[in-house]
Amino acid sequence: MRASSSKWKKHKLMMGNTNLQAYLPKTILLSNRSLIEWVENYTKVMLKPCFGSQGKGVIQITSFPNKDFEVHHEYQRTIIKGKEQLYDYLKENYYRRRNTKYIIQEKIPLASIQENPFDIRVMVQRKINTSEWTVTAKCAKVAANNYVITNVAKAILPVDQALEESCLSNFSLANIDTKLNEISLTIVEHLSYFYPKTRAFGIDLGIDEKGEIWIIEVNLRPSIFMFKSLKDGSFSIIKSFL
Ligand SMILES: Nc1ncnc2c1ncn2[C@@H]1O[C@H](COP(=O)(O)OP(=O)(O)O)[C@@H](O)[C@H]1O
Ligand SMILES: [Mg+2]
Repeated sequence: MRASSSKWKKHKLMMGNTNLQAYLPKTILLSNRSLIEWVENYTKVMLKPCFGSQGKGVIQITSFPNKDFEVHHEYQRTIIKGKEQLYDYLKENYYRRRNTKYIIQEKIPLASIQENPFDIRVMVQRKINTSEWTVTAKCAKVAANNYVITNVAKAILPVDQALEESCLSNFSLANIDTKLNEISLTIVEHLSYFYPKTRAFGIDLGIDEKGEIWIIEVNLRPSIFMFKSLKDGSFSIIKSFL
């Protein structure tokens, strides 16, 4: 039977693979208790609806030493005073409205171009009636000004250009590129066992300010339109696998 496509389920499945554990940000299901514990232990965490997409409902919470919290959603930042008020505020404004479970995830300090964080989308596909997986395309999604999510993108760039323009310009592009491919293929070879009908995975990988790679999420029905603006032919390669 096909596994559920919830972010929590996919996280747990990937944690079952020893080759992926080191690339997964610390993640837990949200509850009043886990929220309090995590905001005490991490300066920044991300809250994400288990069945969300396109960055909808994704929230960043920053804890300040004076026990204030900043809730950053879309381009808006709100200051909340105290832990109990934080949970009530989030419940009132987010959980209850969305009627879905959330995960809490350690925030990865994503590499940025000027002030704007970016992450990488990797397309991994197999053609119908074949079992061989191919990395067909990659791009960098640069967050719009004042956003912490890259779904609302200021720019879609080729990966090499993004790295050159970013704080990672001294790192070896070839090394990072090889690692992005290797991790993506390991993810797909593992997850495809649980999602046997899926032929296209869209993987969001973060690169932190030290050049380390992190798994942000895996999409089982990835949108391909972001690749249309690239001039490297990736859009037609993707389509040739569909
Ligand atoms: N743990 C994290 N650390 C840093 N940024 C994150 C993290 N999780 C999500 N983000 C940012 O939020 C965006 C949306 O989160 P994602 O998990 O991809 O959910 P969605 O299904 O809504 O796209 C990511 O592309 C990334 O820019
Ligand atoms: Mg995503």
